[in-house]
Amino acid sequence: MSAIVGHTMYILLSCAISLDGYLDDTASEQLVLSNAADLDRVDEVRSGVDAILVGANTIRRDNPRLSVRSPARRAAREAAGKPPTPLKVILSSREVPADAAFRADGESLISSGSLADVVAELAERGVERLMVEGGGRVLTEFLTTGLADELQLVIAPFFVGDTDAPRFVHDGQFPWTSRSRATLASVETIGNVALHRYLLSESAAHRHWLAHAIELSHRCPPSTTAFSVGAVIVDAAGEVIAWGYSRETDDLVHAEESALAKLAGDDPRLRTATLYSSLEPCSERKSRPRSCSRLIREAGIPRVVFALREPSTFVVGEGAEELTAAGVTLVEVPELADQVREANRLQLGLP
Ligand SMILES: NC(=O)c1ccc[n+]([C@@H]2O[C@H](COP(=O)([O-])OP(=O)(O)OC[C@H]3O[C@@H](n4cnc5c(N)ncnc54)[C@H](OP(=O)(O)O)[C@@H]3O)[C@@H](O)[C@H]2O)c1
Ligand SMILES: [Zn+2]
Repeated sequence: MSAIVGHTMYILLSCAISLDGYLDDTASEQLVLSNAADLDRVDEVRSGVDAILVGANTIRRDNPRLSVRSPARRAAREAAGKPPTPLKVILSSREVPADAAFRADGESLISSGSLADVVAELAERGVERLMVEGGGRVLTEFLTTGLADELQLVIAPFFVGDTDAPRFVHDGQFPWTSRSRATLASVETIGNVALHRYLLSESAAHRHWLAHAIELSHRCPPSTTAFSVGAVIVDAAGEVIAWGYSRETDDLVHAEESALAKLAGDDPRLRTATLYSSLEPCSERKSRPRSCSRLIREAGIPRVVFALREPSTFVVGEGAEELTAAGVTLVEVPELADQVREANRLQLGLP
């Protein structure tokens, strides 16, 4: 998804809008969209990043501090060897006032380069998580260049009703369309506002669905002779079309097999779907005539994402090799492998 090949920074966009999609109104004082509980949530998100970025108009208009406020969170950052508040990054081609509030606390950087240059510079400085807090022009640029992994959008239940007010995003070509949608990860009520979390990059979506598969694996009836696995099948539009877990319907059924059994073999959605499995699909089975790798190939699923290669506890797994040889795209997400081992402590003889 990223326009910059090889960028590994996680970029999170955060903002609050009215029901009609405005970031602010046209009055001189700042419009309050969020509430105290949500501001505290934003403070928590800030404390978890390495840098916070805004556009110069946001500085001119709102004069935000852009700091972590909670003393406990600041202390926790320091205890972890980080500065108490993340690096502040302001995009501007002009002078930024010397008395701007963000300058009072922590390190800051004014940048006038292209977004790609800014992101590259921040990566060089060791920034791994970047939070972008607006405004509309900057958000539009991050979204239309495909340089975003997640959007945390807070919606306040009122209208601004004035087209002269600053919009959430401007016109542009966005990578998400009705056919190739962003992944809706969660919707949460925070008092009188709603927090929507959208995953925008492929890698963020993969982690989300794999985490869901791992969650399902915790529903497996315990066993010492077979692994506990969860599987989710997601169609091209980002909709879950089937899911399953080991021993869901009988003592021997595998997660992928159980999920596939819930769909007709000729379901056209399978041809463009992705199968997420916490563990590499099996290549050999004693208890059933067909392995999961074979079932996946026969279903015509073009892509499989998994977290952990099958440990050689029971059989030597060659599912990944078999699927790759058959032209299926394999994606391994080793960051989540420990969670899969955790769900299989018994089988792996872990303490
Ligand atoms: N509700 C919310 O969550 C929220 C959050 C933030 C802001 N806001 C609101 O959003 C409004 C501001 O939004 P906006 O769209 O007008 O402006 P903005 O996105 O905050 O800032 C745009 C400015 O950033 C600089 N800039 C942008 N891209 C750049 C680049 N690639 N390189 C260098 N400079 C770049 C330019 O400043 P120069 O002119 O200096 O070059 C540009 O004019 C305010 O009303 C504010 O209250 C709301
Ligand atoms: Zn299997």
